[in-house]
Amino acid sequence: MSDSSSPLFHVLDPRQFDRRRLDDLCGLTTRIRQLAKSRLGARALQTLLPHKRAMLYFTQPSTRTYLSFENACHLLGIRTTEIRDPSTSSEFKGESFEDSLRTFSSYVDVIIMRTWGEGLARHSADLMDRIRRPVPIVNAGSGQDAHPTQALLDVYTLERSFEGRGGIDGKTIGFMGDLKRGRTARSLSYLMERYRDVRLVFIAPEAFQMGRDLLDWLAGHGVHYSCTDRLHDTLDTLDAIYVTRLQKEYDTGGESDEFDHRRFSIGARELAALPEGSIVMHPLPRGPELDPRVDDDPRAMYWRQERNGMWIRVALLVKIFGVEEDLPDGQRA
Ligand code: NCD
Repeated sequence: MSDSSSPLFHVLDPRQFDRRRLDDLCGLTTRIRQLAKSRLGARALQTLLPHKRAMLYFTQPSTRTYLSFENACHLLGIRTTEIRDPSTSSEFKGESFEDSLRTFSSYVDVIIMRTWGEGLARHSADLMDRIRRPVPIVNAGSGQDAHPTQALLDVYTLERSFEGRGGIDGKTIGFMGDLKRGRTARSLSYLMERYRDVRLVFIAPEAFQMGRDLLDWLAGHGVHYSCTDRLHDTLDTLDAIYVTRLQKEYDTGGESDEFDHRRFSIGARELAALPEGSIVMHPLPRGPELDPRVDDDPRAMYWRQERNGMWIRVALLVKIFGVEEDLPDGQRA
């Protein structure tokens, strides 16, 4: 794991981020958000990286992560090229993934990738580390395994939501849904270890409960957690509930049919039981687990969460290319 003083290159795993680096990134994100509000500030951001190019290699479906990365690049003047359908690349002609990746790296300065393959981002980074002109790999979601930049935007959303109330430290965060196969809940859980006295509650039917490996990791790192299948027993104890979707695309034989959405969803009844100052998060897209009528409640945080995703990705690119020093002072811009 790199510490906060080493430069950021590949972004592969949430555990790369220690508390200092998280606080630093959140601070930078807020600074960038403020800057972008004025014409002068937005123009200054645009002039930071016009000499850089990014490749968006997204062979797994994506709306938010793709658009937020693309717009984050454009906010910084970075030009983008994309592959979203592998049948349009030479991989379709039988070129190996490794050769394709090496080819992409010849033309761009960063590769942002979302793939079905677990561990593929890490494999790509290992390949980059062996070639003469390596470019950073940013994992924008790898199979059921990790989604580090989602975890960063989730941390930023939590920190902003609890501003003036001690931030994430001391909070109780519930995770609900298909925790077994969802990479967002996993990645965010790892980052919760960086905060003091946080309690995690994993709310899911037994067959969809959080993986043993992650639970053991939390226990080994002294994080308090509990697992339950009784949503209504926990609601009034939560500062935040992180709702997730059923990951049907990973079914191998109808597993999703076993999931009872009536017992694991958030609607008017659940909102009534959640504390007043709590928040409802969701990485989106949503399914039946989150009633659209929740959108009108001030505790619904997911639309702001998705916009935060763009800003944290701008900050991440600023860090990767080491141009933070070139940012104008927020007051003057
Ligand atoms: C998530 C993902 O792709 O893992 N979406 C996202 O990036 N915002 C969540 C999901 O698809 O369920």
